[in-house]
Amino acid sequence: MMKMHRCRICGETFLGSEAPSHCPFCGAHRELFVDTSEYPEDINAVDLTEVERNDLMEAIELELSNTRFYLAMAAYHDDLKLASAYKRLAKIEAEHCSVFCKLACVGKPTDLMEPGSAPDDWCANIAESKLRETRASAFYAQVVARATNERIREVFAAVSAIEADHMLLDDLAAEMAGC
Ligand SMILES: [Fe+2]
Ligand SMILES: [Fe+2]
Repeated sequence: MMKMHRCRICGETFLGSEAPSHCPFCGAHRELFVDTSEYPEDINAVDLTEVERNDLMEAIELELSNTRFYLAMAAYHDDLKLASAYKRLAKIEAEHCSVFCKLACVGKPTDLMEPGSAPDDWCANIAESKLRETRASAFYAQVVARATNERIREVFAAVSAIEADHMLLDDLAAEMAGC
């Protein structure tokens, strides 16, 4: 039976007989989906400590930089499969940026969807991507360890796991590109 499922991390809805294994918008794992009727509308209304606010601001910058890097990678049309994979990654990182902005109560960066720069070489870019994902996942795990707010801990733990999934994508991409 078709049902509406809602992702607790990005708040997007998904119509299907069951929740997807990974949120198509932010990459969150299936267990973070709830029935839409169980989704608290004030889920992102949080009182932040100064440490949590600083961590969110750093996370926003990190996601902004990664989104723009992946948009630059996706612009290389000499390999459409890889370009498409990294375009998807850019959209997921932009969604993370937007979730962090909601939690920090700040507007989204105006240049979020403007491609940045990346070297014109798939293998160098894939290696750079893996570094970025490793750094992001580790930083978010540190935030989970020091945050006191339950919602901040939930979001950062979920996003840390998603960035770890992205390292697997880099490994697959490196194989496809013959690196
Ligand atoms: Fe999501
Ligand atoms: Fe991300």
